Amino acid sequence: MLKKVLVVDDERGVRESMRMLLKDYYQVSVAGSGSEAIAVLKDVQPDVVLLDLRMPDMSGIDVLQSIKAIDPNIEVILVTAYATVDTARKALRLGAFDYLTKPFDPQELESIVRRGLERRIDALRRSATLEAIQQDYRTLRKEVELAKHQMHTHVRDTIYALLMSLELRDAYSGKHSMAVLWLVDQFAQGLGVAPDDRNRIRRAALVHDLGKIGIPEDILNKPEPLSPTDQQVMHTHPRLSEEIITNVEALADLGPIVLAHHERWDGQGYPDGLAGEAIPWQSQVLAICDTVHAMSSERCYRSRLPEHIIRRELAAQRGRQFNPAYVDAMLAGTLISDIHSAENAGKMVLTSQQIRQVLGEPTSHESGIAAMLATLV
Ligand SMILES: [Fe+2]
Repeated sequence: MLKKVLVVDDERGVRESMRMLLKDYYQVSVAGSGSEAIAVLKDVQPDVVLLDLRMPDMSGIDVLQSIKAIDPNIEVILVTAYATVDTARKALRLGAFDYLTKPFDPQELESIVRRGLERRIDALRRSATLEAIQQDYRTLRKEVELAKHQMHTHVRDTIYALLMSLELRDAYSGKHSMAVLWLVDQFAQGLGVAPDDRNRIRRAALVHDLGKIGIPEDILNKPEPLSPTDQQVMHTHPRLSEEIITNVEALADLGPIVLAHHERWDGQGYPDGLAGEAIPWQSQVLAICDTVHAMSSERCYRSRLPEHIIRRELAAQRGRQFNPAYVDAMLAGTLISDIHSAENAGKMVLTSQQIRQVLGEPTSHESGIAAMLATLV
C-alpha cells in the first residue's frame, strides 16, 4: 500500500500540524529544509511530498527539480502562502502535481494528498504495464532468434545430409566437391581474390553439384559416354543445385554462381548459353577448377589424365570453354601438379565439422549467443 508522505517546511508549526492531520492515514516523515528533504529522500522513499515553496536554504522550485531528477514519479504538492498564477504555472510545468495555499483547510490537505497518491498509483501501474510489455517483447525476440538459429542449424544439417547421400550414390561427386573446394580456394588466393569472395566460391564449390542428387544413378555412374538423352538429363543438375540452395537462406547468395558453373566462355555451355563476362566470374573460376580436377581424377569411363594432357586441354579451351585469363593463370601456376600431392596428403578431405562450417555452421561465438539466449528465455 502506498502511503508515505514527506512534509518539507522550515516552519515547525506547519510541519507538525500537517503531520498530525495525516499521521492516522499515512506514514509521515518531516524535513525542515530543502537540503534535508533531498538528503532523506532516498531513505524515506516518499510517494507524495508536501513542499514549502519558500524556505531559507533552497527555493521550493529548486527542491522540486531535484526531487523529480531523483524520481520523476514522486508526486510533489507545493505549499505556499504566496501563491501566484505564475508560480503555480511554473511549478506545474516543472512536474508538481498541484499546490496548496496556506493557511490550509484540513479537508483540502487530506483531499490533495489522496489525489496525489492516486496519481502515483496510476503512474506506477502504467510503468509496470510498460515494463511487462517490454519484458514480453524481449522474451519474444529471444524466442524468435533462437528459433531462427535452430532452423538455420536444421537446414544446414539437411544440406549436409544431401551431400552425404549424394556421395553414397556417386562416390566421385562427394570427393570431387571437396577437391574443387580446395582447388578454387588455392586458385582464388593466387588470383588475389578478397577473403569474402574466396569464402563465397569455397561454399559454392561444395554445393555446386548438389543437384546430381536428382539425376538417376545409372546415368551418374555410366561407364560409357552419355547418350544425347542422358546428357540432357545430366544437364539439368546446375538448375537442380540452384533450386535446392535458393531455398536455404544461408546459401541463397550462391544460386547464380552454382547455376552457371557449366556455362562456357564461347556461349556453348548450359543451362542458359551465357557467354564471356555475362557468366559470373566466380562461376568461371569454379568451371576451370571443376574441369581440372575432373581431368586429374580416375573416372568410371577413363583413367586420370597426365599433367601434360591436362595442360594441353586447357590451352585448347582457352577462349572457348574458359576465360583466357583464368587459363593463363592456371597454366602459369603449379596447381595442376599440386593436386595429386594435396590429395595424397589428405588436404582435400574435410571432416563433417569442416563441411558444416563451410555450409554456415554457427561459430563458437554464435553458439555462445544461442546458449545464452536459451538460458535467458
Ligand atoms: Fe557440375
